[in-house]
Amino acid sequence: MKEKLQKIREKAIAEIESSQGMERLNEVRSAILGKKGELTAVLKGMKDVAPEDRPKVGQWVNEAREAIENRLAEKMKKLEAEALRRKYESEKIDVTMPAKLHAAGKLHPVTQVRNQLVDIFGSMGFDVYEGTEIETDFYNFTALNIPRDHPARDMQDTFYLSPEFLLRTQTSAGQIHVMEEKKPPIKIISPGKVFRSDDDATHSPMFCQMEGLVVDKGITLCDLKGILDVFVQKIFGENTTTRLRPSYFPFTEPSVEVDVSCFQCGGKGCKLCKGTGWIEVLGAGVVNTKVLRDCGIDTDVYSGFAFGIGMDRIAMLKYGINNIKLLFESDLRVLDQIDD
Ligand code: DAH
Repeated sequence: MKEKLQKIREKAIAEIESSQGMERLNEVRSAILGKKGELTAVLKGMKDVAPEDRPKVGQWVNEAREAIENRLAEKMKKLEAEALRRKYESEKIDVTMPAKLHAAGKLHPVTQVRNQLVDIFGSMGFDVYEGTEIETDFYNFTALNIPRDHPARDMQDTFYLSPEFLLRTQTSAGQIHVMEEKKPPIKIISPGKVFRSDDDATHSPMFCQMEGLVVDKGITLCDLKGILDVFVQKIFGENTTTRLRPSYFPFTEPSVEVDVSCFQCGGKGCKLCKGTGWIEVLGAGVVNTKVLRDCGIDTDVYSGFAFGIGMDRIAMLKYGINNIKLLFESDLRVLDQIDD
């Protein structure tokens, strides 16, 4: 019996030692210690052992069992440690490797300008009105005091979709919608795309404007100047100011062209301002009473001012872009340089 147990023990230990993985180790365990295992079979056979030999045989069996279990536990530890080592090895990071470069996206310069304008005018209490790019002839022209035979229509070469519908040539169309929908006080900006059949270094068939409209009691050209001064100081720098020059727009009376003092030379005269010290940035004026009246606004009580800013032009001036095409070519070498 002792020999038999010794053999079981040696065989078990040899098998444990040669086991390559946890699965195999478990197989070996149940082949020896499991319900139908070899050592369990010996235990079951104890009833056939003479009663006086039982304590001795029992002790041998226990010794064998203990030895096998110890080996099993040791082997299991080894296998676990090995598995952990392999896992660490496979997950090892070389912290000295150069990092992978992730190109970060950026907002388009005109979008950056748009966001800045919305922030600046938003901080002065303006709401944003989003108009539509397809307009009717009425909103884009007639209601803005530009009837069909008006020469001002020639200033804006229009893409007509039908005799009635067109791609808006100016965000001014939004003024009429706002005044139809809302009673004064009105204080809105309306940024968006506009379209004209025009194409050269400073003109693109699609460009971006931002309309502004204020209608309230006692509004004058001075209010316009005050608001525009804040606007240019925030967008071009604290030392800039505005200058109003007489101009003509059918929907404003009086109308002005607004210049900003050159933010590059401080007004002394340079290439950017063509030696004049001033740069034209937008058109504006006091809203024509005819336009207000046609929208049902009592001009004895209310008056207003309006302005139209070319956002692409602001972006070009601000970021030193000399050809409007660069804004639409999506050349990352250009766009990457611009981040405010
Ligand atoms: N809509 C004009 C244009 O596209 C710009 C403009 C001028 C808008 C004067 C205005 C304004 O609201 O008062 O040329």
